[in-house]
Amino acid sequence: MAASYENESENRFNGNSFSIPFQEIPRFPKSDKRVNELISCKEPVIVTGSDLVGSASHWSLDYLAENIGDGTFNVYKSASRKFKYYSDKKMQAVHEFAPPTQLLEMRFQEFMKLIRSKTNTNSERIYLQQALNNSVGPNIVHEFVNFNWAWASEQQQGNSWGQLTSNLLLVGMPGNVTPVHYDEQENLFAQIRGSKRFLLFHPDQFENLYPYPVHHPHDRQSQVDLENPDYEQFPNVRNLHGYEGVVGPGDVLYIPMYWWHQVESCPDSEENISVNFWYMAGSVEKIEHPLSAQQKVAMSRNIEKMCLEALGDPSEVAPFMKMLVLGRYT
Ligand code: OGA
Ligand code: ZN
Repeated sequence: MAASYENESENRFNGNSFSIPFQEIPRFPKSDKRVNELISCKEPVIVTGSDLVGSASHWSLDYLAENIGDGTFNVYKSASRKFKYYSDKKMQAVHEFAPPTQLLEMRFQEFMKLIRSKTNTNSERIYLQQALNNSVGPNIVHEFVNFNWAWASEQQQGNSWGQLTSNLLLVGMPGNVTPVHYDEQENLFAQIRGSKRFLLFHPDQFENLYPYPVHHPHDRQSQVDLENPDYEQFPNVRNLHGYEGVVGPGDVLYIPMYWWHQVESCPDSEENISVNFWYMAGSVEKIEHPLSAQQKVAMSRNIEKMCLEALGDPSEVAPFMKMLVLGRYT
C-alpha cells in the first residue's frame, strides 16, 4: 500500500511514480500469545483490549480543561502540518538554525480556546505535548492511578525494560504530522480519542532515512520529507520499506526503541488525544554477533559523539572518517 495523506493531495509524492511499500503492522488482542512474541523480539504490534488507558476513555478537551488543573503545558505552533522536533540545547551548534515550530507555554483552558479558534481555519496549527506531572487535578490523578499498570509492568518486566521515564500527553488537531524520527526509549503508545496513522521503519533503514548528525538540533529526525522526497539528495529513499497502521481509541502500539516512526492525526475527530509510556532501554547482558541493527545505531551514535568531542568541530568529522575508511576498508 502506498503512503497517502488526507487533505494534501498536491504534496502526495509530487506525482512521482515511486511509492514506499508498506506492510500492515500486526494487530492482536492482548491475550494472543503473538503479542508477547512480537514485543520480546522488539517488533511493533498494535494491541487491542489491553485497557491500558481505559480509565481515561472519557477524556475530551472539555473534560481536560475542567480537570487537568492550573499547570502550564508545552504547546507547539506550526505554520504547516508538520511538527518536526528540535532540541533547544543543540540550537547553538548549528549556525542560523531556524526552528520549524514555536514553543508556547499556556494553561489548558487557553489551549482549548486556541485549538477551537484554529479548527476550520487553514492557518496555523497547534499541538500540545506535555509530560503528565503532579500538577494535575484529583480526577485526572484518579484516572492515572487506574491505568492498567499491571499490564504495563508485565511488559516492562517481561522484556527487561528500564524504568518508566514519562507519560507524554499529546493533544492535537486532525492533520497534524510528527515527521519521521526515532526515539531512544521503548514506547507503549496509547490512543484515547480520535485515531492516528503510523508509518514505521525498522532500525536497519538507517541508510535509507538519512538522519541528521547527532550534534544537530534535529538529531534523531530524518532529513527526508516522506511526503515529497528529494531523490537526488537522498537516493536510498527508493529502497525504503516499512509498516503502516492506524490506532484508534483503546489501541496500544508498541514502538520498539530505535524504530523510525511518522505519525499523522486522522481527520475522523476534531480532538485527538494520546498518552505514551516511555521506558528506558533495558541493560544488555550479553553481546552476540552479528550485532542487531538497533545495536549498530547505538554504536554509530557513540562513535559520532566521540569524534565530535575529540575533534571539537563538526566540520572535521567527515574528512576524519573518510581518511579512516577510504582506500583502507573500501
Ligand atoms: C512518540 C511520538 C508523536 C505523535 O510517541 O514517540 O513520536 O504525534 N509521537 O503522536
Ligand atoms: Zn517518537
